[in-house]
Amino acid sequence: MVKICCIGAGYVGGPTMAVIALKCPAVEVVVVDISVARINAWNSDQLPIYEPGLDDVVKQCRGRNLFFSTDVEKHVCEANIIFVSVNTPTKTRGLGAGKAADLTYWESAARMIADVSKSDKIVVEKSTVPVKTAEAIEKILTHNSKGINYQILSNPEFLAEGTAIQDLFKPDRVLIGGRETPEGRKAVQALKDVYAQWVPEERILTTNLWSAELSKLAANAFLAQRISSVNAISALCEATGANITEVAYSVGKDSRIGPKFLNASVGFGGSCFQKDILNLVYICECNGLPEVANYWKQVIKINDYQKSRFVNRVVSSMFNTVSGKKIAVLGFAFKKDTGDTRETPAIDVCKGLLGDKATISIYDPQVTEDQIQRDLAMNKFDWDHPIHLQPLSPTAFTQVVVTWDAYEATKGAHGVCILTEWDEFKDLDFQKIYDSMHKPAFLFDGRNVVDVEKLRAIGFIVYAIGKPLDPWLKDMPAVA
Ligand code: NAD
Ligand code: UDX
Repeated sequence: MVKICCIGAGYVGGPTMAVIALKCPAVEVVVVDISVARINAWNSDQLPIYEPGLDDVVKQCRGRNLFFSTDVEKHVCEANIIFVSVNTPTKTRGLGAGKAADLTYWESAARMIADVSKSDKIVVEKSTVPVKTAEAIEKILTHNSKGINYQILSNPEFLAEGTAIQDLFKPDRVLIGGRETPEGRKAVQALKDVYAQWVPEERILTTNLWSAELSKLAANAFLAQRISSVNAISALCEATGANITEVAYSVGKDSRIGPKFLNASVGFGGSCFQKDILNLVYICECNGLPEVANYWKQVIKINDYQKSRFVNRVVSSMFNTVSGKKIAVLGFAFKKDTGDTRETPAIDVCKGLLGDKATISIYDPQVTEDQIQRDLAMNKFDWDHPIHLQPLSPTAFTQVVVTWDAYEATKGAHGVCILTEWDEFKDLDFQKIYDSMHKPAFLFDGRNVVDVEKLRAIGFIVYAIGKPLDPWLKDMPAVA
């Protein structure tokens, strides 16, 4: 019987292993983590992450062939295939700080595998890692091998949060990189056999190790680049009277470009895009390719620009000050259908508004007050050009209120900022919101979810990313 152990029960490890367990009833899957709280949550009715469809999958196989445990060493020792899905954040200090991937967790997992293994193992890189990480891992494992044969595979994960289960059920592709040796090919085949239980053969791509590692970084860089491209054009739309929705639609109709991932927004967030591009930038620099590094850096710079442009627009529209004004923030997660706030643009926008002494009242259907307060209190590691140069005073955080209701958040507000595209925001009673607000009532749509004309008819002064400006905003100072 194939026994799989996954180290790391996070946003990737949890859903990915749950789907493998569901689709491969003959395989035993154990997900292990050093966080007792996280494992307890996976074993409870309140899973540690919100992901549509996940509850259902977990319920079907937990206790059958899917297990969650903190007994890391036991399950690593017993498995034939070990996925490593630990976090690989950006280094915040030392060599490569601000760009390079921090492989501390990865290395400690690899050393633990070497320590406890008593039989041959296939070790699968599920985490997103720099190119050539497999070589480093191989060295750690074989140096301590005690005669055990290890095969390292790269099997990067392409799921997006909010649609993880759907993405795992029907992936565009599954990518497996391995050594081009007989043992390497055998290991690739063993992993291919697992995915082949539900993924059509032509969607399972096999490559060499370095291509698989690099493809993941390149794919995220290309995706983020599309958003920065459309966001850059959104600024020009606002300056010229063009409409970004019309421009993006027209551009995306070209079959060589395609319609997806062209939604202008307040900026991209999430745990992957910025981290992985910075990682790519660092790899380019280390390989003597500064021009290539600068090219990709620009994708992040435009993202920072888009967030600060939004804050500036809010402040300048409201008579150049939001001091003492109540701003309601609708949506804090980095996208809809997740409670994840890692690198959410809402953090930078809220900090920008707090820097101008606003009082903010936040509502998000999935993010807890604790999480929001932690995110806002955390010092941001400024990778290059900090967008908010002045540190916030400790009293700034007392100006944050978190509510569990959009109407409560907007009551008595001077302005409303929509920062996540939750479906429920489209159906809000905006007349009721308008009636409860100070006048003039401003609405800043960072996700292009509202019907601008309808809201203007109610009386709101509306700003929407990349849309022709409200006459009110045209008279306000230019935003840079
Ligand atoms: P996460 O922080 O949600 O989960 C990582 C888990 O690993 C944590 O629960 C942590 O406690 C655990 N861990 C760390 N060191 C450990 C150790 N030595 N032993 C056991 N457990 C350990 O991270 P995530 O979002 O699941 O991302 C994991 C990896 O997958 C990252 O490299 C990320 O870049 C990549 N990735 C993420 C996504 C995404 O959408 N989140 C998508 C594709 C790829
Ligand atoms: C991303 C990749 O899509 C996924 O393939 C990879 O495995 C992990 O990183 P994720 O970060 O979970 O997934 O979500 P994604 O849907 O890519 O959105 C990232 C950010 O971009 C969000 O803040 C989202 O709101 C924003 N976005 C996305 C836009 O602003 N406009 C778009 O058109 C699409």
